[in-house]
Amino acid sequence: MLNEWLTYLAADCPPLARKLGYLRESIGIRSRYRRCKTAWQPHLENSLSALLESLHACSNFRTALIFGSGLLLDIPLTELASRFENVLLVDLAHLPEVRGVARRHANVRCLSHDVTGFLERLKTITPGNLDLPPPTYFLDDPTVDWVASVNLISQLPLLPLGWLRERFPEIDEATLEEWSTRLMRQHLNYLAAFPAPGCMLADMEQTTYVQNGDVTEHADFAEKLGFERHTLSRWRWDIAPPGEIAPGIGRYHRVAALAVKRG
Ligand SMILES: C[S@@+](CC[C@H](N)C(=O)[O-])C[C@H]1O[C@@H](n2cnc3c(N)ncnc32)[C@H](O)[C@@H]1O
Repeated sequence: MLNEWLTYLAADCPPLARKLGYLRESIGIRSRYRRCKTAWQPHLENSLSALLESLHACSNFRTALIFGSGLLLDIPLTELASRFENVLLVDLAHLPEVRGVARRHANVRCLSHDVTGFLERLKTITPGNLDLPPPTYFLDDPTVDWVASVNLISQLPLLPLGWLRERFPEIDEATLEEWSTRLMRQHLNYLAAFPAPGCMLADMEQTTYVQNGDVTEHADFAEKLGFERHTLSRWRWDIAPPGEIAPGIGRYHRVAALAVKRG
C-alpha cells in the first residue's frame, strides 16, 4: 500500500489524467501483473515477437513511435533502442520504474500524451457534441519510421466512458457504445495515416467465464471495428485466471498483431 502511494506521488501523469484515473489504472495493471505473471507470460512473449517481426517492414530506423507503452511489459525496448536513433514512449502514465528504464538509454524518451484528444476536449464537450477531432500529433514528423500501438485500442474508451456517464447521466448507453466504437476507429485511422510501417497489438475479443467453462460475457472488438488489416499472428491472453476478478470467474482475450500500413 505504501509502495503504491509512493508510486502515486512520484509518477509522471498530467493532473487531468490523474483525475480521470489513468495513474490508478496503471498502478492497478502493475499489481495484476505481479499476481498473474505466469498466466501473462505467453502473451508478453507473443507481443515482443510480433513487434520485432514487424520491424522487417522498416527500411529506415530513425524514430520508433510507441503508443500505450505503459509498464513496458510487452515492448522489446532494448532491441528498439539499439536499432532506432530515437524511441518515443507515448502514454498518459509513466511510472517511476519505467522512467528509470528509459533513462538507461540516451535515445529513449517518455512523452505524456492522450492519443485520443479526449482530455483536451473535456471542458467543451457536451451531450449534443461528443465528437473528437481526428488525432494528427506526430503525423507531420518525417523521421517516424515505425509506429506501434501496444495492447491499447480496447482500453481507449474505458475511462472516458466512465467520465461521460458520471458527468452526463442523460446520455443513453447506445450513444456511448457508438461513441466508443468511433473513438477506437479513429485510432485505427490515425495509425494507418502514418506513412511508416508498424504494428498494432489489439484485443479482438474479450470473454468472461465461470469455472465450469460457461461464458457469462463476450465482447467482439474485431467485429465492431472491422479489422481488415493484415494479421501477422493471433493468440490467447489469460488476463485474469479464475479467482483474479472474483471467486470462480476468469477472463481471457483473443489478441492479434496487425500490420499497420497507409490506409
Ligand atoms: C493495457 S495497457 C498496455 C500495456 C502496456 N504496453 C504495458 O506493457 O504495460 C494500456 C496502456 O494504454 C495507456 N492509455 C490508455 N488510454 C490512453 C490514451 N488515451 N492516451 C495514451 N495512453 C493511453 C494506459 O495508461 C496503459 O498504460
